[in-house]
Amino acid sequence: MEKNESGKNLSLQQSGGEQRENLYPVTTLPREAREKLLNQRGMMIWFTGLSGSGKSTVALGVERELHHRGLLCRVLDGDNIRTGINAGLGFSVEDRRENIRRIAEVGKLFVDTGIITLAAFVSPTNEYRQLARDIIGADDFFEVYISTPLEECERRDVKGLYARARRGEVKDFTGISAPFEVPSAPALTIDTSHQPLDASVQQIVELIMGVKTHDQSQ
Ligand code: ADX
Repeated sequence: MEKNESGKNLSLQQSGGEQRENLYPVTTLPREAREKLLNQRGMMIWFTGLSGSGKSTVALGVERELHHRGLLCRVLDGDNIRTGINAGLGFSVEDRRENIRRIAEVGKLFVDTGIITLAAFVSPTNEYRQLARDIIGADDFFEVYISTPLEECERRDVKGLYARARRGEVKDFTGISAPFEVPSAPALTIDTSHQPLDASVQQIVELIMGVKTHDQSQ
């Protein structure tokens, strides 16, 4: 390995194991050290589904419940991502792809910090979701499909966007004038029009606790 003048390593040991040229002669702590500090396992719960399906509501419910149990979580959704880091992005195919790519890269850092990360984004195609899975790593990536039907999302129309999309005032609107591909093998499928919020939260908490328990028993 290349060294600088003071004999320090010039490449950085990444948590994924690969070596990479780095600007700073430092070595990162391994992920396990951070997870041990928090006494939990980092993971990404990736919510996909139509606008208004209940992704953020369920994710925030899961965050509240896990926080109550002493686990550190973070929700990433349109409210904190599309108004901030991704404020310049729209809803074209390219922008949606870039939206998902950045979320996945940021999410990977959260997961690598040991945080249970809950990302709630429409992410309407298999390609976008696969991109997120590839960036984050399949072992840490759990897809939850919020399958609430279009009719129900449109009936709720929390932001009035479906009505505007039907009038042609919002173009490329997912479910109306842009596609949504149903995920083929999600870890969980939840229809929020068929059960109360508590039940949806509980199902996901069980998924997360199951991953934790499985890891500890290895
Ligand atoms: S994604 O397709 O790039 O994953 P994202 O989840 O970030 O979408 O943003 C979706 C939210 O943006 C929707 O819940 C809705 O409030 C709003 N929105 C505005 N325009 C559109 C559009 N054309 N298609 C889908 N959602 C839109």
